[in-house]
This record gives sequence, C-alpha cells and structure tokens, in this order.
Amino acid sequence: MERIAIYPGSFDPVTMGHLDIIERGLKLFDRIIVTILCNPAKRYLFSAAERMEMLEDSLSGFKGVEVDQYDGLLVEYARRRNAHAILRGMRAVSDFEFEFQMALMNRKLNREIQTVFLMTSLRWIYTSSSIIKEAVRFGGDIRDMVPELVFHKLRERFGEDRMSG
Ligand code: PNS
Repeated sequence: MERIAIYPGSFDPVTMGHLDIIERGLKLFDRIIVTILCNPAKRYLFSAAERMEMLEDSLSGFKGVEVDQYDGLLVEYARRRNAHAILRGMRAVSDFEFEFQMALMNRKLNREIQTVFLMTSLRWIYTSSSIIKEAVRFGGDIRDMVPELVFHKLRERFGEDRMSG
C-alpha cells in the first residue's frame, strides 16, 4: 500500500522550514500532498492562487510531492485522498499547545488518520511565515529563509526599497 501523507498549512508564504519538513517527510512517506487549507484565525497576505504558485515553483524539483488546495475539513480531505497520515512540523514548546489540540480534534473526527510530527531542523527553529513577513515589512533581509520566488513576491508586495539585499 502506498504511504500517503497530507502536509497541510496556510503557507502564507512557504518557507525553507516547510521545505525541510517535506524533504525529511519523504523519507517516511511515498507521497506527500501539500495542501493549502483555511486557518480561520489568520488573515492572509497572499491569495490561495499565489500561495499555490509559490509552492509549486518551490517544490518543482521534489519527486513524490503534489500541491493542492481544499476549502473544508482536513480529515475529510485526507479521507478523500486516501491518506492515512497528517504531517506537521513542530518547532519550540510554543507550537505544542495548538498542535496538540489540532491533532486530538482530528483524531476525534477520524481515528483512522494519524498525525505525525517532525521536529524542525535547528537551522529553521526560529522562522515562521508570520515573523518573516514582519521582518520584510520593516526592511529586514530574509533572502536565505525563503525560496527564490517567494523572496521576489515579498519584495513586490512590500516594495523593493523596504528590503535590503
Ligand atoms: O499553517 P497553519 O495556519 O498552522 O495551518 C493550520 C491548518 C490550515 C492546517 C488548520 O487550520 C486546518 O486544518 N484547517 C482546515 C479546517 C480543519 O480541518 N481544522 C482542524 C479541525 S477543526
């Protein structure tokens, strides 16, 4: 049986931390479906179409990875795609409460689907889409924390003069 995992998230935008989790997840799963879902607690900078484009571009060199989007419940999407695992990255203790709650809720909704956590590599432990957007907004250079296209999109969005490098 093919081992399929859904790697869900907002990806607003995709970062090197996400790519690291996908790369390492591919050692555990035959196929990873990277899916943009809606987190009602967030307001997004990029549209779903822009986030898809950035993900597709960043993942074009990865084998066994597909990018998709879904407007609904994660476990329902996983069921439809025949996936038995949800892959999530875990950074510091601060991630734990939200991740724990989400994993338990997803398990309550569908006991057949297991959530698998990978610890983020130390190199990316402090990065997040939110903190990267904040740094860019105030002119910080985040070039090595995001894929090339994302860097350009952020530069477009915030204006070249706000970003060094
Ligand atoms: O990158 P994020 O914002 O931390 O990802 C959170 C996301 C999008 C995976 C989560 O909000 C989600 O699964 N949204 C879809 C609706 C759902 O199934 N929620 C969890 C159970 S109520």
